[in-house]
Amino acid sequence: MKNRVIRVSTATATILVAMSLTAGLATAQGTAPATFKSKCVACHGADGKGQTPVGKSLGIHDLASTATQKMTDADLEQVITKGKNQMPAYGDSLKAPEIKDLVQYVRAFAKK
Ligand code: HEC
Repeated sequence: MKNRVIRVSTATATILVAMSLTAGLATAQGTAPATFKSKCVACHGADGKGQTPVGKSLGIHDLASTATQKMTDADLEQVITKGKNQMPAYGDSLKAPEIKDLVQYVRAFAKK
């Protein structure tokens, strides 16, 4: 358990560094690929499968899985905005349209 917390905070630190590097890029619409890369890849992986060291330790679901894709857009927005268990909340750092873009980005994983 302790180990898990340490790994998550390492991931968070990595993400914060990545965020500050790419902060200039992330403006409004159409930023989902860049946002996903800077904020989400450390846990979910570039392909959304969660096969990263952090993703594996958290037991993340494949974003393309039926279980995830069965969730409504509103559900997915909710998880990204408010967080869920080990999933951090992004409601303070991302705007609503950016979160909607990310939901579409998550949907696109299932189409690959
Ligand atoms: C610290 C690791 C971490 C980061 C960073 C992270 N997530 Fe997650 N995410 C999780 C975990 C763990 C879950 C599973 C939560 C649960 O159901 O217990 C999750 C769940 C989700 C879900 C719900 C679907 C599912 O499979 O349960 C979506 C959608 C999602 N994340 C999108 C994102 C997006 C978009 C970002 C970037 C803005 C992001 N995540 C960043 C760890 C992370």
